[in-house]
Amino acid sequence: MARLKIQTPCGLADILEENLKIYQFIEKVCQKAANFYNFKRIETPILEKKELFEKGIGEATEIVEKEMYSFKTKGGDKLCLRPEGTAPIVRAYFQNGMQGLPQPVRLWYFGPFFRHEKPQHGRKRQFWQFGFELLNSADPIAEILILKLFIEILRELKIQDFILEINSIGDENCQPYFKKALTQYFKGKAKSLCQNCREKLGKNVFRILDCKEEKCKIICAQAPQSLDYLCEDCKSHFKKILEYLDELKIPYYLNPHLVRGLDYYCKTVFEIFPKDEERLALIGGGRYDNLGKILFKEKLPAVGGSGGIERIILYLEKKNIKLIKEKKPQVFLAIIGEMAKIKGLEFLDELREEKIKVIDGFGKDSLKSQLRLAEKLGAKFVLILGEKEAREGVVLFKDMEKGKQEIVSLKEAKKRIKKLCH
Ligand code: HAM
Repeated sequence: MARLKIQTPCGLADILEENLKIYQFIEKVCQKAANFYNFKRIETPILEKKELFEKGIGEATEIVEKEMYSFKTKGGDKLCLRPEGTAPIVRAYFQNGMQGLPQPVRLWYFGPFFRHEKPQHGRKRQFWQFGFELLNSADPIAEILILKLFIEILRELKIQDFILEINSIGDENCQPYFKKALTQYFKGKAKSLCQNCREKLGKNVFRILDCKEEKCKIICAQAPQSLDYLCEDCKSHFKKILEYLDELKIPYYLNPHLVRGLDYYCKTVFEIFPKDEERLALIGGGRYDNLGKILFKEKLPAVGGSGGIERIILYLEKKNIKLIKEKKPQVFLAIIGEMAKIKGLEFLDELREEKIKVIDGFGKDSLKSQLRLAEKLGAKFVLILGEKEAREGVVLFKDMEKGKQEIVSLKEAKKRIKKLCH
């Protein structure tokens, strides 16, 4: 392969036909679920004001501190490539006056997001997410609706062996007590923590719970748990959710140290993992009742989540799950000579009008190479249109399986193809 000087930036990749079809398939599955649960599609811009995420996700989070692609425009605006979709959705809700719509408002999206992470297995700098957000509902049933929707999407994608991890991290009333207890605990163990975790101690103590270092993991295992600090309101909210899950027979694992990496969450947080996979979540989300207040000083209880397409594709590849059945083309049209090119195009037009799909050999000059392509594609019938045939309005109709061939009029060929393809 030629060594190219100009390639995609590190961590970014082209999406080729084969994978693109899976993206489109997943999008269709999401659309179907959205239609059923009455979520409306929204597309927010790829570029947003940087402060939307600084305020929304939190300045001390990994995403804002290290991972945002941000820049200053010539006009002096501080913009960034969106690292996630929830803060933009809340912005869009208020900016477009969605308070005036019947509540709660249900929105969904599908598109690329950008984080300057260290590229590795399951971590891309441009990745695609589908997300569902249910805005203006404080009812625990909202969480259940979101979770059911994601579970149905995974099942439609033939992903059966996943585990839902869930926790409650409390709200502005009780979370400070939990944070205080956590900080005190980790301060007492500071000497044994890794350098990175020591730095997080004063800034964002929750992140220590995500550390992958073995010595930190051991310390984390004994750390205080958010559930022990919940106020009555958060406790009854979470209890109701667990009851619903039990009644609906949705299995879950209560992970008392699940806190998530974005500051806007309160109460319920969840992640969905493949059962046997390293800690690479397919879907993550939770409740973010305070994001409206943080961004616009408006109350907006809400819950949502999003799934990573590349992670899902990795999982499907690993499990050898095929979502798309490749249909072999039935008919291939081989064309040789100038006159045949025109006749061939006219013939293709006629077929297109009849909504018949035929693969053509345009762009390949020799009959041999066109036949090789037809064979590679697995075409059952090959039509050969040369100069002589074009002049006489006929075509050589070749049955590749039976090895038979005969000259028929273009009209008859069309009739036969029509019968084959419908
Ligand atoms: P998140 O957990 O940061 O949450 O991302 C959601 C999902 O996106 C992850 O579970 C993962 O599948 C995928 N993902 C994240 N980063 C990468 C990456 N670098 N490469 C590949 N896939 C990745 C959010 O973004 C929240 N906005 C979710 C949410 C919606 N919460 C409430 N509503």
